[in-house]
Amino acid sequence: MASSPVSARRLEGKVAVITGGASGIGERTARLFVAHGARVVVADIQDDAGARLCAELGGAASAVYVHCDVCVEADVAAAVDHAVATFGSLDIMFNNAGIGGPLYQGIRECDVADLERVLAVNLVGPFLGAKHAARVMVPARRGGSIVSTASVASALAGIAWHAYTCSKHALVGLTESLAAELGRHGVRVNCVSPWGVPTPLALDYMGLDREGFQRAMETMGNLRAVGGAMQTEDIANAVLFLASDDARHISGHNLLVDGGMSIAVNPAMSVFKD
Ligand SMILES: NC(=O)c1ccc[n+]([C@@H]2O[C@H](COP(=O)([O-])OP(=O)(O)OC[C@H]3O[C@@H](n4cnc5c(N)ncnc54)[C@H](O)[C@@H]3O)[C@@H](O)[C@H]2O)c1
Repeated sequence: MASSPVSARRLEGKVAVITGGASGIGERTARLFVAHGARVVVADIQDDAGARLCAELGGAASAVYVHCDVCVEADVAAAVDHAVATFGSLDIMFNNAGIGGPLYQGIRECDVADLERVLAVNLVGPFLGAKHAARVMVPARRGGSIVSTASVASALAGIAWHAYTCSKHALVGLTESLAAELGRHGVRVNCVSPWGVPTPLALDYMGLDREGFQRAMETMGNLRAVGGAMQTEDIANAVLFLASDDARHISGHNLLVDGGMSIAVNPAMSVFKD
């Protein structure tokens, strides 16, 4: 049986919208997507950082910035329309914008307004992203890939506070529900679930500097043998895979990028062999 050709530029000719694209995982993914031949719309609320990134990525030929608060439906609709108007189509919607909130709040201290804010960005945002991506992808009849950034907190309770944990669990449910609906239109829907990577969100959430964060992640994770703690590029590589045709039969999946720490892994037995 002939094997499929491996494309060095895996997103040639594709157009992507990346929410939360001005920083961290979104920024790294924007860089990787452009390197793989995609044209991207970076959608964020950090206007200066987003515009600077797009200029660095080649400007109007390959990357344009739009101000987009993912909680505001008109902003999300406009970002999607901007991709189609500027680059001619939409093939990839990366719903990545997210917020953490406080590191831990017990249920007795939880403020409903904090809960609603986290759900608005982390769940309503991807809901609106999927809604407007589907609005243009389905009639275009060229398929598509919707990827959202969830978290290991989608699979593990107790490592984040209630609002963040339920926003990311719900995002997996939304992903599966969308995959069930959109598969017949050739639109795949998946999410990627990172363990800790040093970004402004994560450092702020943990209250640690970069070095302290890396140390904590290496200690808590299961990753030393593969070169230490994860970086944004490790997540961007997983998003690239899900977004590309290499994953053409994968939909409704939550891809955990966590060195195995969120499944039932206990490395304790290995001490007897070392
Ligand atoms: N860094 C980690 O360890 C980690 C782990 C698991 C999941 N995540 C998830 O990764 C995603 C990206 O976060 P990151 O770690 O790269 O953090 P980051 O702070 O570097 O990036 C988040 C981006 O989202 C943008 N954003 C926030 N609210 C927005 C809104 N309402 N509308 C549009 N943009 C908005 C921010 O401006 C920022 O550019 C989030 O969904 C987060 O929950 C991160």
